[in-house]
Parts: sequence; C-alpha cells; structure tokens
Amino acid sequence: MTHPDPAPSRAGARPRVFSGMQPTSDLHLGNYLGALKQWVAGQHERENVFCVVDLHALTIPEAIDPAQLRARSRAVAAMYLASGLDPETATVFVQSHVPEHTEAAWLLNCVTPLGWLHRMTQFKAKTEGRASIGTGLLDYPVLQAADILLYDTDEVPVGEDQVQHVELTRDIAVRFHHLFGDVFVLPKAVVPTSGARVMGLDEPTAKMSKSIADERPGHAVRLLDPPNVIRKAIMSAVTDSERETRFEHASPGVRNLLTIWQVLSGRPMTDLEAEVEGKGYGALASEA
Ligand code: AMP
Ligand code: TRP
Repeated sequence: MTHPDPAPSRAGARPRVFSGMQPTSDLHLGNYLGALKQWVAGQHERENVFCVVDLHALTIPEAIDPAQLRARSRAVAAMYLASGLDPETATVFVQSHVPEHTEAAWLLNCVTPLGWLHRMTQFKAKTEGRASIGTGLLDYPVLQAADILLYDTDEVPVGEDQVQHVELTRDIAVRFHHLFGDVFVLPKAVVPTSGARVMGLDEPTAKMSKSIADERPGHAVRLLDPPNVIRKAIMSAVTDSERETRFEHASPGVRNLLTIWQVLSGRPMTDLEAEVEGKGYGALASEA
C-alpha cells in the first residue's frame, strides 16, 4: 500500500525535515559534515524540526548519568544553534519533553516484527562483545521511527549510518497502513554526497564516533576543540607509508582527509588533488 507524498493535509507546503542527535558526548566533525551542515544549508527552503534525542542516549545506561544527560542535552541544543540553525526557522527541542514520542513508539512496537530489529547493522555493531544487552538497544529504531513519523516528516537528513533506520521507519509505516489505513507520511533519508561517513583520523577504516573520541584524543575533531588540538589531530592523522601523495590508489586515510578538505572548502576534488599531488602528506594535512 502506498501513501500519497506529501500528505494531503500538507500538500503544497514546504518539505518538512526532522532529524536528531544523541547527547551522549560532544559533537564531532562527522556529526557536522554528515548531518548538521545539511540541516543548516536547507533550513530556509524547508519546515525544520530538530530534536536532541536524550531517550536514545539511555539505551546504553552505564554510559551516562541523569544530571550529565540534562547538561549535555542543553549543550547539544546550543551546538545546533552555534552551527547556524536559526531559531526563527527551526524548532529545536528535547525528545523527553514531548511524551508522545514514547507513546507512539509503543504503538509502533506492536506492529514491528522482532526479526526486522535483529537485522539492524547498528544493533549488531553496538552489541558485539557485550555480555548484557538492554531491550532499549534493540528497540532503538522503533523510537526513532516514532520521532520521524509523529511530525509528518518528508526528509530526514542524516549520515550514512542512519539510512537503514530511516528505511525501517518506512517499512513500519507501510505495515501500520496495511493494518489500520493510511496515517503517516513516508519519509526518505537525505545523505550528503560527500562527508556522509567521516572516518576516524587515527583509524580510517572505522567511522569517526563519539564513544571512541572520548577514549582516544587523536580520533576525532570535536566541534569545541581549540585550534591547536584540531591542528594536532589532523597533522597526526593516519595516511599511508608512501612519501608522496598519489591519488589513483589513495589509502582510506588520504581519502578521508581529502573528503574533509573538499567539503569544508567547497572546492572540486580535482583542484585539491592537483594542489598537493606529488608533495608530502604534510601538505595535504596542513591544507585539510
Ligand atoms: P550520533 O552521533 O549517532 O548521535 O549521530 C548524529 C548524526 O550524525 C546522525 O545523522 C549520524 O548519521 C551522523 N554521523 C555520526 N557519525 C558520523 C560520521 N562519522 N560521519 C558522518 N556522519 C555521522
Ligand atoms: N539514531 C540517530 C543517530 O544515532 C539519532 C536519531 C534519533 C535520529 N531519532 C532520530 C536521527 C530521528 C534522525 C531522525 O544518529
């Protein structure tokens, strides 16, 4: 069964955008390039709803205490605004302040087959090697579906790792429609062409992540890091063993630095390659 898109009640309206981030830790360059930058760029052509998803952060309860979670939720909201979201245009709020998110999640739980949740790659990655796994971690994508479906969302701007969750949201909505009739707008994930998966500076085969950034100083650039810390992290980023920059067979680390430089400068990749081709990696790192 399909649902008209946009919903009849919103036909002709500007596309509605919904997205969110967990207040588990300070935001990093991956959060900015994968998601925040897109939120800001599109805000004046769209209706914007941006959430600080504190209830999602509870899925790893030992990682955070309640007072810290409240403080970080405010800090993340402040970072949304500092990155350029205009409070006149965007609605910014904390997920737990709106009880309908958990209510809708329950209703959606009751139509979501367990097998769909077991297939989520993020669930598999987050539970690997863990002795005890909370039910919330498995159910995490259903709460995310509730977040998105509650607001008649057309577009969900996210990094690549969230695409599977947005697709699951559509599947849950379609199943709900099949059982009860059409209610929801079917959302689509919007992923940037460059920067959708920023890799760790110290380990460019793994995604830049908040939890690793807390443990290893050279892993990420955090949005609140002072310039000298950022410079050090970029200059010591893993590249490869070649002495000169060559792009035909660039290593993951070199590709990662090029992507970061390209997205932040807005220049075409071919220009950047021409500028540092044949020079040492110091040239690439200092440009990035
Ligand atoms: P999270 O840190 O899991 O709360 O993610 C918040 C947003 O940032 C989501 O849209 C993610 O897809 C995006 N994101 C997280 N890490 C990265 C990364 N390394 N590269 C690109 N986008 C990312
Ligand atoms: N799961 C997302 C992440 O870790 C955060 C999130 C929760 C979200 N609800 C959302 C993202 C709704 C987009 C839309 O990045």
